[in-house]
Amino acid sequence: MTERTGNKAGREELPDSSFGAAAMAPSTEELPGVYPREMGPNSMHYLQEVVDSGLASDMVGRFTTYLAAMHDLPYCIGTTGCTQAIMAAMMAFDFEHGDEIIVSPISDYGSIAGALFENYIPVFVDTLPGTALIDPAAIEAGITDRTRAIIAVHKLGLPCDMDAIMAIAERHNLIVIEDVCQAILATYKGRLAGTMGHVACFSFDSEKTCGGDVGGAVLTRDEALHGKMANRVIARGAVQRPGFGREYSHRGFALQIPQCSAATTLANLEILPRQIEARQRSAQMLDERITQIPGLAPYIVPEDRTHSYWMYGFLVDPEQFACTIDEFATQVAAGGIQGTGVARYYLMPAGVPFLDRMASTKAYPYCQPPASHEYRYRGDSVPHAQDFLERWVRWFWTEKYTDEHVELMAAIIRDVANRNRR
Ligand SMILES: Cc1ncc(COP(=O)(O)O)c(C=O)c1O
Repeated sequence: MTERTGNKAGREELPDSSFGAAAMAPSTEELPGVYPREMGPNSMHYLQEVVDSGLASDMVGRFTTYLAAMHDLPYCIGTTGCTQAIMAAMMAFDFEHGDEIIVSPISDYGSIAGALFENYIPVFVDTLPGTALIDPAAIEAGITDRTRAIIAVHKLGLPCDMDAIMAIAERHNLIVIEDVCQAILATYKGRLAGTMGHVACFSFDSEKTCGGDVGGAVLTRDEALHGKMANRVIARGAVQRPGFGREYSHRGFALQIPQCSAATTLANLEILPRQIEARQRSAQMLDERITQIPGLAPYIVPEDRTHSYWMYGFLVDPEQFACTIDEFATQVAAGGIQGTGVARYYLMPAGVPFLDRMASTKAYPYCQPPASHEYRYRGDSVPHAQDFLERWVRWFWTEKYTDEHVELMAAIIRDVANRNRR
């Protein structure tokens, strides 16, 4: 067969993953999919305002004010995504190259991109057994004299144990960034996700719980930090020098959320509480059905928290089934819950071979200095996280599920379990 593209390296760099609607299972007659998204009734009205104003409306300000008020936080910057929101925080901290950021090991590349671009070193520590959430004890054990911050990812829609994490951070003088990308309006001991750490980062990407199109936000109650973040990601690092004009004091970008995304996101935030309630109601109903299927267990939601269900999943006991977890998931998908799968790629230390290469070849910042010791990135460094992902089957949840949909999903899963039982 003739080669259609250039060299092998070039082929490897071709994108092989799609995002948004193209990546999601479509709706079927039996079960709705995530797309088409329900858009807030004010979407067209707000978009019209942006257009009628000739782009002079303050739609971005209205969106950030609304989101900040929802979270009772004084400062908010609208960004083009959660990746860029976390990047804003990373750019605003004056850490040294080679300083360490402790990160949840079950996450997305967006959680660590900002740290990488600032030449900080991500350190993944393990999860609590049977969960996708970072283990506070593992954080404590992973702290060195180079640790500067913790990125706590409220994975799937369920908040981390924030009291424990904040107590550790206080003891060791560390910054805590809440990655709320998947958990908007989830709660921990009655407090909203994003209101407990020093910085909170959100995504309004079209496939997220509140999908506004392309967007994100970074919130804080720290005025000085807010100013630095705005400088780095809105003003491109520039300050005004009297008699001169724009002078660049730092490296920076223009990563502000576009007005049209701010418009649709604002409209979608207005309907979000109702949608979260619907997600919770249907997910809890399916949890009850899953509990009754031997060999399966619902994802545990501790009593002190609420889950906002960006994603739904359950745990499979491999001892009780003759099939593999991959076959189990494939059969659930074939039964009608399209998009069901296992998600090994969420295991970040296993999903960043380029970082392991950099660490093993001591590429900057893994050379010493600025690094203070050796690093490696391997899935087996976080065995609880690895084990969880080997037993967990999941798909994207939607507020559109009715009781009938839940009963249908429960029947599909029960049938697969019964068919494969040892
Ligand atoms: C936990 C987490 N953090 C950050 C991101 C990055 O978000 P965005 O796509 O808005 O940049 C994602 C994206 O899926 C994510 O799941």
